[in-house]
Amino acid sequence: MTVTILGIESSCDDTSAAVIRNGVMLSNIIAGQDVHRRYGGVVPELASRAHQQNIIPVVAEALRCAGVEKSELNAIAITFGPGLLGSLLVGVSFAKGLSASLRIPLVDVNHLQAHVLAHFIRRTPDDTSAPSFPFLCLLVSGGNSQIIRVEDYDRMEVIGRTIDDAAGEAFDKCAKVMGLDYPGGPVVNRLAAEGNPKAFTFAKPHIPGYDYSFSGLKTSFLYTLRDCLKKDRNFIENHKADLCASLQSTIVDILMNKLLQASNDSGIKTLALAGGVSANTALRESFAHYALRYGWEAHIPLLAFTTDNAAMVAVSGYFKYLKKDFCRMDAVPFARVTIG
Ligand code: KG4
Repeated sequence: MTVTILGIESSCDDTSAAVIRNGVMLSNIIAGQDVHRRYGGVVPELASRAHQQNIIPVVAEALRCAGVEKSELNAIAITFGPGLLGSLLVGVSFAKGLSASLRIPLVDVNHLQAHVLAHFIRRTPDDTSAPSFPFLCLLVSGGNSQIIRVEDYDRMEVIGRTIDDAAGEAFDKCAKVMGLDYPGGPVVNRLAAEGNPKAFTFAKPHIPGYDYSFSGLKTSFLYTLRDCLKKDRNFIENHKADLCASLQSTIVDILMNKLLQASNDSGIKTLALAGGVSANTALRESFAHYALRYGWEAHIPLLAFTTDNAAMVAVSGYFKYLKKDFCRMDAVPFARVTIG
């Protein structure tokens, strides 16, 4: 049986479409939205408009690159949340229209689960690099920092989550107070390469279980800047690389310590990274280092699958399609949805 799925992602500020056949990626097109850069963050109304502009050309390009006709599609997989409601509505409305006109099922996909299932996107028919169940996934993005216990494609449990800011927010907000560009995470990553990760010490949280907290670190970072700026007006400019390296190393330590604790307690030694922050060089290196030290089977996503993309939506839709887990045409997206 050949199953060909068109996946569409429009939950935030990337319009993406991808075609997957029997789990193998044939195309994955992403249109970003530069319009938000000058505002220092995503502006929801502008994001919805840009999705409206992008969605038809992006889907057409995904089909063209895959060499697939619309008539060959078996289902449309679409992100139903979490995300910005206006952005989600553009993708869902388009997907519903296409599914109705082609008379094929619509499959609703949870964006967070899709990030985890990105590890099951096969690049070639003989690609067997996917993790085996059960595994633990550290999902770190601009809106989430979670440790997820993954039992199956459709059985996941969040065992740890942030009680305040997400790791990506910590990167972005600290970058903003240093006057760096948005999004700050990649800029901090770049500048940190030249800095000393031990130059500054910032507060680390002490909270029970596998939960995260980044608000204390943010405050500690802010207070360090405030105190040092009193003595040296050019403190940030003079210590930018060291500040970035120390901030990055603190965030990575916080993330990895809890993940190690979760692995030790559960005895699960298959571990994966996912989400936008998993593009961070220091996090990827630290994850690989822990894997060597603690005998983990480590799954680090390709950079292309760390950001929002429709290939992860299409592969999630593929597994639901196999179970005939389709979505009703009167279903609506939600801005806030969790895993499980
Ligand atoms: O998953 P994502 O693309 O979007 C959502 O949050 O849904 O994640 C975006 C976040 C931003 O906070 C961005 O600063 C962060 O991922 N990020 C990084 C890096 N690349 C993206 N943070 C640190 N280092 C990076 N290289």
